Amino acid sequence: MPSELTAFGPGRVNLIGEHTDYNDGLALPFAISDGVTVRAQPQREPRVQAVALDLEAEDEFALDDPAPASGWCAFVRGAVAELSRSGVSLTGARLEIQGTVPRGAGLSSSAALEVALTLALIAVADEREPDRIELAKLCSRIENDWVGAQTGLLDQIASLCGEQDHALRIDFRSLQVEPVALELGDSKLVTLDSGEHHSNAASGYNQRRAECAEACQRLGIQTLRDATLEMADGLPDPLSRRVRHVVTDNQRVDQAVDALARHDLEEIGRLLDAAHESLRDCYEISTRAVEAAVGRLKDAGALGARIIGGGFGGHVLGLLPASASPPDGAIEVRPGPGATVMEQ
Ligand code: GLA
Repeated sequence: MPSELTAFGPGRVNLIGEHTDYNDGLALPFAISDGVTVRAQPQREPRVQAVALDLEAEDEFALDDPAPASGWCAFVRGAVAELSRSGVSLTGARLEIQGTVPRGAGLSSSAALEVALTLALIAVADEREPDRIELAKLCSRIENDWVGAQTGLLDQIASLCGEQDHALRIDFRSLQVEPVALELGDSKLVTLDSGEHHSNAASGYNQRRAECAEACQRLGIQTLRDATLEMADGLPDPLSRRVRHVVTDNQRVDQAVDALARHDLEEIGRLLDAAHESLRDCYEISTRAVEAAVGRLKDAGALGARIIGGGFGGHVLGLLPASASPPDGAIEVRPGPGATVMEQ
């Protein structure tokens, strides 16, 4: 049994393909260097002691009785419950949690936490790590059933399957993940905080998801992956605009993959702008603070800029050419490796 180990779950930035994951669509995210670290020590007693160092808070519960809770405790209890339910034989553990990715800021702090917790709990019990796509599904059940946010698989797959210097083209219908080299030359991707933070569970996220389900029902299709622009036109507002966003963002993912292969960064910028316009006008998940942050990146000379993640606040992403000087507070982001476990 390992005496102590550390699991790291990275946050993610999504280059393009937003609100497409739960519609069986396409996305192009990458793991970043910021994330959540869980240090785990095995304990003799069949109990879990968890300490959230950043929040100066603690939780403790019996391994076989993780009752529902709110806030960060929901993630820990959900991780224990879902792993046990999937057949992982857990042991008692003390977990110390610390993060560098801002919470509720569109950089996937939630998935980073789920991924680091599950990997730490599996490793400290000396159990075999499951297939990472299966683990991503398990992590998303923690978020859906324990935290109450009906999010898709984008963040968990990006965090678990990330590859250095690559974005991942994820097809959420087949769950195929294809690394795509992200070579930006002298240009760079930066994130900028809009200053407005959100919680997926409390925001309009679940409402958007319900609207997509309603659109499918009216169109008589299983998933919006099968929708077309003509179908969108036949729906009442706002469903028509929601479907239009999903259809066009799927197209933009493959256009971005092609543009990256051609090193056509002007085109990537154009696609980022088009995605932002669609998320603002069709999906309606932008806010005044987000628009101001996008405006600051564009004023600085960004080739393109857009809101990322669930929306209603959070960070925005910009592609800056070498000639542009990043606005105050902008942070460069590069694709890093996926989640890791290190024994100590
Ligand atoms: C959040 C969710 C993801 C995805 C994005 C929007 O990050 O956790 O599943 O739906 O929003 O693309």
